[in-house]
Amino acid sequence: MLKTNPLYIQTNNTRFFSVLSKLKTTKSTIELNTNITNSNVNASTSTSTTAKVIKPLSAAQRAYLDRVIRVDQAGELGADYIYRGQIFVLSRKYPHLRSTLDHMWEQEVYHRDTFNQLQLKHRVRPSLITPIWKVGAIVMGAGTALISKEAAMACTEAVETVIGGHYNEQLRVLNNKYEQPVIESSNNSNNSGGGGETVKVPDEVQHLISKIKEFRDQELEHLDTAIEHDSRMAVPYTIITETIKNVCRVAIWCAERI
Ligand SMILES: [Fe+2]
Ligand SMILES: [Fe+2]
Repeated sequence: MLKTNPLYIQTNNTRFFSVLSKLKTTKSTIELNTNITNSNVNASTSTSTTAKVIKPLSAAQRAYLDRVIRVDQAGELGADYIYRGQIFVLSRKYPHLRSTLDHMWEQEVYHRDTFNQLQLKHRVRPSLITPIWKVGAIVMGAGTALISKEAAMACTEAVETVIGGHYNEQLRVLNNKYEQPVIESSNNSNNSGGGGETVKVPDEVQHLISKIKEFRDQELEHLDTAIEHDSRMAVPYTIITETIKNVCRVAIWCAERI
């Protein structure tokens, strides 16, 4: 009898719809949670898509970099001492040359300091015969200056000719042998064709290249300055310049290895 009571039926329907409503709410919550989970999955997938890996330098590439930093630090230290020797002798006899010599010397000190920092940063051992470079360089600078100011300038011309060529040779290797593969990888199966391969010179090598370029240009300015100040009037020009060029080549060979 109760079942036929319209009021009972209405009450039951209300309960029925109330249960449905709860179910719908639960279903919506599940859908919402599922969407959040999916978006989290998508977010983590997009992070892995942008991952880039540069191939590390090989042992041979590292060894060459160490050699570059070692020999260039020794060379710039030598240049610093050559100008010290020249300034010590010439600034008293030819005071008008002082500002020109000081300008070139200050640039050499900057070159030397830069390679000192690179040596520490990359933990490259200095040349084991550094004291010989210091003594040899100051004797070369002061000795040629004692012959004449033209002979001192011929010394600068010879040194900067060899150093300019030496830096160009290093730049050729660093620009051509240090393009490392960059791999862009993706783990997301929904992203088809997400991978690819390019090449990039590592930042540390790019920095070294930019410094060597800058110093090479300044060395060539020193070469021009020496010619402007009558390096080619030195007597005996050919003997001085060829001897000094050969000494520099031997010094470079030794400083790279010892
Ligand atoms: Fe220099
Ligand atoms: Fe120089």
